[in-house]
Amino acid sequence: MSVRVEREEPIALLVLDRPERLNALDTAGLRALLEAIRGLAADESIRVVILTGAGDRAFAAGADIGEMVAKSPGEALAFAELGQAVCRAIEEAPQPYIAAVNGYALGGGCELALACDIRLASERAVFAQPEVTLGIPPGWGGSQRLPRVVPPGVARELLYTGRHLGAEEALRIGLVNAVYPAGELLERARELAQQIAANGPIAVRLTKQAVRIGLEHGLAAGLAYERQVFAHAFTTDDQREGMRAFLEKRKPLFRGR
Ligand code: COA
Repeated sequence: MSVRVEREEPIALLVLDRPERLNALDTAGLRALLEAIRGLAADESIRVVILTGAGDRAFAAGADIGEMVAKSPGEALAFAELGQAVCRAIEEAPQPYIAAVNGYALGGGCELALACDIRLASERAVFAQPEVTLGIPPGWGGSQRLPRVVPPGVARELLYTGRHLGAEEALRIGLVNAVYPAGELLERARELAQQIAANGPIAVRLTKQAVRIGLEHGLAAGLAYERQVFAHAFTTDDQREGMRAFLEKRKPLFRGR
C-alpha cells in the first residue's frame, strides 16, 4: 500500500492508496503511513488531518491477509507492534485526526479509524473487527479501543462475532459521529476540520492531550494534567489574542504561539 499526503493548509488529507486491494495494509504501507504521520506531527502549518481511503469502496479492508498468512509468531509480533505504533502515532499526534470512512473499515482499517479523534462515515461505510473469523484476535488495538469508544457489551459482541455493521448502526452505537452521502463525505470532513483549525492551535493540541491522558490514566491524573495545560496556555500569545478578540468583539487571529 502507498500513502498520499495532500496538503490543503491548515488541513492535510492522508490517503491510504491501494484501491485494487481495498487499501489493505501491508508492512511497507504501514511504514509509509508511520513516516507520513510523524512528518505531519512536526509540521506546524497543519492543524487537522483527515485520514481516508482511495477509491469509492474502502477506507481500508484490514491488514494484508496475503502477507499475514505465512508469518511466524515472531513476525506476527513485529507486525502487531508496527500496526500499534501507527495507531499510537495518530493518538499522540498534536493534530486532531478525522477518519473519513468511505467504505469498508475492517480489522486494521477499523483499528486505524478507532485511533482517530473523530469518525465520520459515508452511507456506504461498513465496519467490523473480523479477526476471529480468520482465527486470530485483533492485533492493532481493536480489543482495547473499541470498548473505549462504544459500550463494552456492544464491543464484545462485535469482537466475538466479527460481524459487519453498516453506517446507521455505527451511528446508533456511537462508533461514528455522523453519516453523510458518499459524495459529500470529504467536504463535510473538510468543514469540520476548518472549524477546528480556526481555534487556537495550542489550545486544541493541549485539549487533545488532556482528553487522552484522562482516558488512559483516570480522572485524577486527567484533572491534574488539565490544570497544568490550562496554566501553560496563559504563557501563550494565543490566550491573550483569543480573550482580547472576544472583548473587542472581533474574530481572533491565532498564530500558534
Ligand atoms: N488483505 C488482502 N487482500 C484483500 C483484503 C485484505 N484484508 N481485503 C480485500 N482484499 C483483496 C481481495 O483479495 C481482492 O483481490 P483479488 O481481486 O486479487 O481477488 C480485492 O481486494 C477485492 O476484494 P474482493 O474480496 O474481491 O471484494 P468483495 O467485494 O467480494 O469483498 C470484502 C469485499 C471487504 C468483504 C472482502 O474483500 C473481505 O472480507 N476482505 C477481508 C476483510 C478482513 O477480514 N480484514 C481483516 C484482516 S485482519
